[in-house]
Amino acid sequence: MSRAIAAAVRDYRELARRRLPHFLFEYIDGGAYDEITLRRNIEDLQAIALRQRILCDVSRIDLTTRLFGQDMAMPIGLAPVGLAGMNARRGEVQAARAAEAAKVPFCLSTVSLCAMDEVAGALKRPFWFQLYLIKDRGFVRDMLAKAKALGCSALVFTVDLPTPGARYRDVRSGLTGAPGLAGEVRRAWQIAHKPGWAWDVGVNGRPHQLGNIASALGAKSSLRDFLGWIGQNFDASANWRDLEQIRQAWDGPLIVKGILDPGDAVRAADLGADGIVVSNHGGRQLDGVLSSARALPPITEAVGGRLTILADGGVRSGLDVVRLLALGAQGVLIGRAWAYALAGAGQAGVSHVLSLMAAEMRVAMALTGVTKINEIDRSSLAEG
Ligand code: FNR
Repeated sequence: MSRAIAAAVRDYRELARRRLPHFLFEYIDGGAYDEITLRRNIEDLQAIALRQRILCDVSRIDLTTRLFGQDMAMPIGLAPVGLAGMNARRGEVQAARAAEAAKVPFCLSTVSLCAMDEVAGALKRPFWFQLYLIKDRGFVRDMLAKAKALGCSALVFTVDLPTPGARYRDVRSGLTGAPGLAGEVRRAWQIAHKPGWAWDVGVNGRPHQLGNIASALGAKSSLRDFLGWIGQNFDASANWRDLEQIRQAWDGPLIVKGILDPGDAVRAADLGADGIVVSNHGGRQLDGVLSSARALPPITEAVGGRLTILADGGVRSGLDVVRLLALGAQGVLIGRAWAYALAGAGQAGVSHVLSLMAAEMRVAMALTGVTKINEIDRSSLAEG
């Protein structure tokens, strides 16, 4: 299947499945434990019935919006996806360029392969940076200072990973948790970095740097070492005081990512967050928690109007974007959708997925009888 005949996000998922080493596809595609929340994210969204309206003059549809003081061509952003740089050569740069061309924000993960400097250097528009709290606060401060110096326009502080969620697929593929398979993982890692392979990430003869945390990782260089490092260095003691400190340290827009509870959303607003992402980390953390579609309405009720509400999880089409906007989100992040596309067709694939989503949003808006983003609300849904 070539890019030309990819009609939907799911086609890129199939392309990614064919192109990537098995363990890497499973890492992207999988979720925590039995993947109940991963499935709920998709199923609960798709179960939301849109309300068809007729004869509304929908000849001019405007997808533009403004979030965190930034003009955007549509209310979609590229969610932080760790290790995305493995999906294609200099993968984060390719994805960031696609986002820039589509005039939507790209959020770079703390655990990206391409470092902030490389991504910022490839763009004219500012990028967003996602922060994980690691134990070495000096290192956190340095990362924030660097993000600021490079013109990062929003900080996304991810709070739903005090400890990594266990994923059966990663154990089965040999990526985590099965010491006996270490050799196999190493071989797969080496294969994945053979020069000429689509997902070769080598630069200057150093094949697998994790750009933003390379100096903290030190001599450790295998994927397994890296995953072990996360377990040891992500700070499980993270608490509200840390959010306060990050608020003090970061004077730009601050978005807290990984909120599912209305009380937590209120507290984030009280502490001065500019935005939140209603998210269960794409079903990769606590299996069994609410889908984003179900978590969103009570959160909108609790903090709507006090801060900007973003949501992610299970978004596979522009129709899903409209559904989350109807439930109260002002913007939506996509994770796997762009990661599959990057693996399947690089920058062009990510651009294509973004244009597919825009086209799907236009159709959904036209047939629900709205022409502007801020007209999408509960009345766009059949059940109101
Ligand atoms: C993620 N996600 C994530 N989130 C984050 O804050 N920092 C990160 O480094 C990562 N890494 C990551 C890797 C992979 C492979 C996936 C699939 C996801 C979560 C991500 O930002 C987002 O919340 C979900 O991907 C949204 O769900 P969908 O769109 O993938 O269904």
